[in-house]
Amino acid sequence: MALNKQEAWGSRVGLILAMAGNAVGLGNFLRFPAQAIQNGGGAFIIPYLTCFLLMGLPLLYVEWAMGRYGGKSGQHSAPFMFNAMDKRFFWKYLGVFGIFTNLAIAAYYCYIESWALSWAYHSVAGHFMGKTQGEVTAFFNSYIGLGTVEPVVFWILCLLLNTWILSKGLKGGVELAAKIGMPLLLLFGVVLAVRGVTLTAGEQGAVYDGVLGLNYLWQPTFSSIWDPVVWRNAAGQIFFTLSLGMGSIHCYASYVKSRDDIALNAMSAGWMNEFVEVVLGSAIIIPIAVGYLGVDKVIEMTKGGSGFGIGFMTLPFLFTQWGATLSAISGFMWFGLLFFAGITSSLAMGTPCMGFLKDNFGWARGKAARTFGFAVLLLGIPCVLSQEAFNEFDYWVGTISLVVFAIAEVILFAWVFGMEKGWKEITDGADIAVPVVFKHIIKYVTPVFLLVVFFGSLPEIWATLTKKITPYVLFARILLAGLFAGIARLVYVAHRKRGAV
Ligand code: TRP
Ligand code: TRP
Repeated sequence: MALNKQEAWGSRVGLILAMAGNAVGLGNFLRFPAQAIQNGGGAFIIPYLTCFLLMGLPLLYVEWAMGRYGGKSGQHSAPFMFNAMDKRFFWKYLGVFGIFTNLAIAAYYCYIESWALSWAYHSVAGHFMGKTQGEVTAFFNSYIGLGTVEPVVFWILCLLLNTWILSKGLKGGVELAAKIGMPLLLLFGVVLAVRGVTLTAGEQGAVYDGVLGLNYLWQPTFSSIWDPVVWRNAAGQIFFTLSLGMGSIHCYASYVKSRDDIALNAMSAGWMNEFVEVVLGSAIIIPIAVGYLGVDKVIEMTKGGSGFGIGFMTLPFLFTQWGATLSAISGFMWFGLLFFAGITSSLAMGTPCMGFLKDNFGWARGKAARTFGFAVLLLGIPCVLSQEAFNEFDYWVGTISLVVFAIAEVILFAWVFGMEKGWKEITDGADIAVPVVFKHIIKYVTPVFLLVVFFGSLPEIWATLTKKITPYVLFARILLAGLFAGIARLVYVAHRKRGAV
């Protein structure tokens, strides 16, 4: 127990880097560009930025404030943070989402992270050299189709690495990883982005200027501004990229000191994520792919909005056009960047679960970390075996449950705990003035916005639920429901235990 008490961030820079590492992830480099392209390029940017201002920023304030508030009474996971703000029994069960989502996202996220590790290795080893685009694509398909044991080896390696870093604690593990990973990520990102935007037609086999891709993304058009689907996707991207509605920001924030600034910290980490997303995230895969393939082909390739195709099949092939040395360097930078982006996020997915086990059951760090690693291994098996299970996980936890959790937290914070008290929590110890307008946005605009997004998605949720499904999908759903019930059960046990003391 004594050890648990000492858990804290080492420095402010470390905290901000860790929090930025939490947010900056695969979502910034693969999901964002693909989403932007699929939702009309420049037409996506207006809904995206609106969602950032009206939903992203307010929720960042709320989540940091809830986290620090919970930390004051020794709570580091959402169920009992919610409980600290209102004692009615149902809040802590809504808080279950704040552990559940992290575990279930980690289940498929760590697998993609392990692809990045493997692709970095293959790039350096020169394995993509001399392959045609078709052969690189075949390599990817055979990899994810488990044509060899290699994917499993890299995946387990990746889980062990996560577990090991988590077992070193916040300061010696997570923060250190962010201090190494984030600067390298930024360096690699800037180099690749410069390459992307300066790529000119005729050079190294390029057919078009890379800038054409950027233009497509950034030329504001108003065509799809009334399309609810574009808004839903913009909101979804804001949630995913800022790691909102998942309980992981709460958990990181619960380890700051009780009067430490949170307003400036929240803004630094949040804006850093946006910089990495809109500046670096849009300047790598899109311009490079557009330079060789043209805008139309790239639009066609990002169907589904995942960016995996360009990131893992097209880029490694295009890099080979630059010769053996440059190809190895670029591949190492690109997949290294993805790997650092991924691991600083997956570490953040582990901390709420560990905080919960340590707070409530007195577990030591190592044991809690190993439990997380093992849970991710078990939950990940269906995602590794089946693309369908993977998508099912991503839909329910990566898209839907975040919104449910966010609605719950903003109502709890602004309407139950109370906006006056809430505002004091946000501004207490703040090193910057928080514009008062956010007080009203948090109370009225954000909840309404979230409810509209949620109700707007109901027809789609209904359609998903009533669609005919395969055994893998059914299995994935049972697993998710079981996971939720299991965590809720632990919350119940922990609550009883507390009552008994
Ligand atoms: N924000 C991360 C990204 O952009 C992904 C992410 C989703 C995440 N959920 C999370 C990170 C929970 C940490 C915790 O890729
Ligand atoms: N296809 C899913 C989606 O668009 C999953 C996904 C796409 C994803 N890109 C991602 C998951 C990047 C993690 C990271 O929502």
